[in-house]
Amino acid sequence: MSHELWAEVDRYIVDLIVKPDDALEVTRQASALAGLPAIEVSPAQGQLLGVLARACGARRILEVGTLGGYSTTWLARALAPGGRMITIEAKAAHAAVARENIARAGLADRVEVREGRGAEVLARMAADGDGPFDLIFIDADKPGYVEYFEWALKLARVGTLIIADNVVRRGAVIDEENEDENVQAARRFNERLGAEPRVVATVIQTVGSKGHDGLALAVVTG
Ligand code: DHB
Ligand code: MG
Repeated sequence: MSHELWAEVDRYIVDLIVKPDDALEVTRQASALAGLPAIEVSPAQGQLLGVLARACGARRILEVGTLGGYSTTWLARALAPGGRMITIEAKAAHAAVARENIARAGLADRVEVREGRGAEVLARMAADGDGPFDLIFIDADKPGYVEYFEWALKLARVGTLIIADNVVRRGAVIDEENEDENVQAARRFNERLGAEPRVVATVIQTVGSKGHDGLALAVVTG
């Protein structure tokens, strides 16, 4: 199937079912205008995050990799009443754009953008006894994924849903010789996930407006 057909079917799904509102579109546009890379999740994927958060009844959500706050908005809107979300962003410029987008979307009372390198912020959170979180979404620099996953397990409880974006990379993950560091990082993450006895996990391949990639889904069982 062609990339064009995936994108067309994605549009069909989004127009008919997902129906992102103006606030989400403004967030996407403001991020692009500010020069952020257009690597946020697609609308259908954002809605998937929201569906999963609602299915978990999530009251505490953690995101690693805020970018402009697009996935943050989908997740924060899905918080149970009184719920709160922390999102971690390493780049100050991205965090500033995200804070504006989150405030404009009316979510500033529920979402805290923590600026800093993922591993450092996560280590501090674990030391401070933050958590447990009900849902943790990892969508940051790929070489950091294994470390973010280790911290995610420490900040989880039995039943926590851990989700990681970009673990298929157009199918390149099956090529052990691939020299792209992001592909190698996704391979290391997938191997780590497969070897972890405290989760039940799968990867769903995704196609659509963002091409071919995949989301890892893991529920903590022990
Ligand atoms: C990249 C990162 C992402 O989070 C994504 O969704 C797509 C691509 C990247 O760094 O290439
Ligand atoms: Mg991503």
